[in-house]
Amino acid sequence: MSGVNKNIVILISGSGSNMAAIVEAARVRHWQARFGARVAAVISNKVAAQGLAWASEQGIATAALDHTQFESREVFDAALMHEIDRHEPSVVVLAGFMRILTPGFVQHFEDRLINIHPSLLPAFTGLKTHQRAIDMGCRFAGATVHRVTSELDHGEILEQAVVPIIRGDTAQTLAARVLAQEHVIYPRAVEKLLAGG
Ligand code: GAR
Repeated sequence: MSGVNKNIVILISGSGSNMAAIVEAARVRHWQARFGARVAAVISNKVAAQGLAWASEQGIATAALDHTQFESREVFDAALMHEIDRHEPSVVVLAGFMRILTPGFVQHFEDRLINIHPSLLPAFTGLKTHQRAIDMGCRFAGATVHRVTSELDHGEILEQAVVPIIRGDTAQTLAARVLAQEHVIYPRAVEKLLAGG
């Protein structure tokens, strides 16, 4: 990835703590000066997503497209694609964006679409990853940043972080431990893409 004006668009569905970690990294690590990069927009499929209000307070453009108002997954994804394209992004970051994407959407953003998943992929694709890791007696859990393909939670692994599973962990305590590491590896993965590495 080269040239100036690298726009980052972040998609969220909820609290947006990974989005906030990336926005903070952009500021503290001078992505604008070093890579000509900025977080251009935060977009959610949930109008009430907490992260939208936070992003707006930071002066970032926000948009909400309520997926329940669209007649099909394809129609929603086409509208979302259109909204994202307005910002001409170099990187599209899925940060707790809880939607299965259509192949057309994935193809459109091929090579610039990344996701974070709260497990050590390829283990535990899908939902309830923390509880499933505990139930399986795993000693370690973690998170993975990966490129997005049309197969759910697959694609080239860009970063991983490992955390221990501690006796007595619940899905909540484990999720909090994993999330703290997500906030480290996701900005790092985005920065590497911006740097062209
Ligand atoms: C994160 O733990 C992320 O890994 C997970 O949702 C959470 C979002 O938190 N994503 C998935 O489960 C995607 N399949 P955040 O909104 O605070 O960043």
